[in-house]
Amino acid sequence: MPYSQAVKRLTEREWRPVALTEPVPIEQLPTPALVIDELALERNLKRMADYLAEKGKGLRPHAKTHKCPIIAQRQLALGAVGVCAAKVSEAVVLVNSGVDAVLITSAVLSEAKAEIVGELCRKTDQLMIVVDSDLGLELLLRYVPAGTQLGILVDVDVSMGRTGTRDETQIILLAERCANSTNLRYCGIQHYAGHLMHVEGYAKRREKSLALWQRISEICEMLGDRGLAPEIVTGAGTGTYNIDCDVPEITDLQAGSYLFMDQEYRLIGAELGGLFDDFEVSLSVVTTAISQPVAGAITVDGGYKAFASDTVNPEPMTIAGSKFRFGGDEHGIVILKEGTQEPVLGGIQRFITPHCDPTVNLHDGYWVCNDGLVHSFWPIAARGCSW
Ligand SMILES: Cc1ncc(COP(=O)(O)O)c(C=O)c1O
Repeated sequence: MPYSQAVKRLTEREWRPVALTEPVPIEQLPTPALVIDELALERNLKRMADYLAEKGKGLRPHAKTHKCPIIAQRQLALGAVGVCAAKVSEAVVLVNSGVDAVLITSAVLSEAKAEIVGELCRKTDQLMIVVDSDLGLELLLRYVPAGTQLGILVDVDVSMGRTGTRDETQIILLAERCANSTNLRYCGIQHYAGHLMHVEGYAKRREKSLALWQRISEICEMLGDRGLAPEIVTGAGTGTYNIDCDVPEITDLQAGSYLFMDQEYRLIGAELGGLFDDFEVSLSVVTTAISQPVAGAITVDGGYKAFASDTVNPEPMTIAGSKFRFGGDEHGIVILKEGTQEPVLGGIQRFITPHCDPTVNLHDGYWVCNDGLVHSFWPIAARGCSW
């Protein structure tokens, strides 16, 4: 009952773009506001799509970053083989908006969620999900309706220790059971090494990531020897997009953050050194300077409820050399570099997000702008979809 109500509410969510009656300058937005620079976004989407196409790899971008069907549709229009959803609820929103090719990258271990996955199979025959345990597989076997099909990838762990199985026998048994089932379709394997995405320095990241993929190559061979060669080998993220694409076995990459970029990613370092700026910053949070109790600093109207951060702080874009300090839930304090002119109260202050995915999850939608003029609002329809 709680689940069916929750699903109903998700399918009622508005996901379509809302065009403003006339474009407005960014300065007129209700702040804190999450803003997309649309041209930069388009360039990022195209850059990744073109890069992987040239490498002969597919792109299955992770929609957990943007949580927005409008963006998922743009990614598919540029040739993505499908999109990923982190959770069942995100998949409900995506499928409801007409995005059919969805891979759920977390296993389901509850009856209610397995039932929802089963229901989704009635709406799309392109749904896939990962499994890493007998119990998870049993649940799917029970709830995927006869006459429908659900694609299955075995989630394989090598060293992260978060999800997946590293037990060879288990990997084979799960693959075999799927291959022998009528309503589950064995599609291959997933391997995601999230702990390597932010390793600083390209050379170090490359060495570590390729070492893990070596193990995956062995697993692919072992499966092949048993007639279970994976058709899909999926994984990787923004931090290793230009590394993992050199692994022969990998068929598609699950990069998520590349379309927005954030400060945590910029700091990991590019292939040729310097900031990791292969992709542009297309997402920012715009705030207003609302108070100045002391000279040399100014308070803005965005704090923990506007920015999510695990390591770094929001990066000021408006005043060069200034630093952001969290001032609580609703406020941030911009510490000015010595000699900087005091900013005016009521003016906007813009920031690169510290970590884009959880920051997006704090906002209702994106204000989409071109050349400083906002023309649309795109709902973050899967906001809060964490189950
Ligand atoms: C399974 C999986 N694949 C891909 C990604 C995308 O990673 P990124 O945003 O670093 O590109 C994530 C992010 O957490 C993930 O959990």
